[in-house]
Amino acid sequence: MKRGKFIVFEGVGGSGKSTQIEIISSWLKEKGYKVVTTREPGGIRSAEKIRELIFKLRQKQLIGPEGQIALFSVARYLWVEEFVRPALKAGKIVLTDRCHTSTAAYQGYAEGGSLKQIEDISKAVMEDAYPDAVILLDVSAEVSMRRRQQDLDDDPFDKEGVAYFERLVSGYRRMARGGWGGLKWFVVDGEKSIDEVAASIKEILEEILDEKD
Ligand SMILES: Nc1ncnc2c1ncn2[C@@H]1O[C@H](COP(=O)(O)OP(=O)(O)O)[C@@H](O)[C@H]1O
Ligand SMILES: [Mg+2]
Repeated sequence: MKRGKFIVFEGVGGSGKSTQIEIISSWLKEKGYKVVTTREPGGIRSAEKIRELIFKLRQKQLIGPEGQIALFSVARYLWVEEFVRPALKAGKIVLTDRCHTSTAAYQGYAEGGSLKQIEDISKAVMEDAYPDAVILLDVSAEVSMRRRQQDLDDDPFDKEGVAYFERLVSGYRRMARGGWGGLKWFVVDGEKSIDEVAASIKEILEEILDEKD
């Protein structure tokens, strides 16, 4: 069986990841693809527990970037083993809301952890189940702050100030320009309308899914 495709949706909180994953997953299913959606950290029960632990330790200021990188990596390992690799083996398209690219943006660019360490550990835990593409929904820190005010979820990272979000936005842009992690990055202007953003993502995916491998 042909291996599926592993696509990461990236961007700061409020950039439109959840909105677009829903639209794109229905679109791909209509086209006859087998699609699964997931999120990182989490996606499976054990990793969701680690997600809760990281969030709690963070809220109590008991953990810095290195500790978070270590815990995110354990969660990622479990998730890849139990969920991502079997799905890819079964020929499915895996759409994930965040991946190690978020660890690079948050614990690396915004919090000062080592990008090299994040890349090395992530490659070690993901091995052959490494993403085929990263779609970055690029929005300014200002738009991110505004959209998140209307739509608060449980994410402790969303409580950070504008300076933190400026570091995230510029970190994401630098990673996309430099092809961080040996990944194929696509940047979409996330400030356009929901329909326009979806149309751009569909074009990118058509290209990726047409690739012969
Ligand atoms: N392109 C867009 N234009 C305007 N509002 C948007 C757009 N995409 C998403 N939103 C809105 O912004 C908020 C955050 O979107 P969401 O998809 O939850 O972002 P994320 O999952 O990246 O945090 C939601 O209220 C959503 O309806
Ligand atoms: Mg979301």
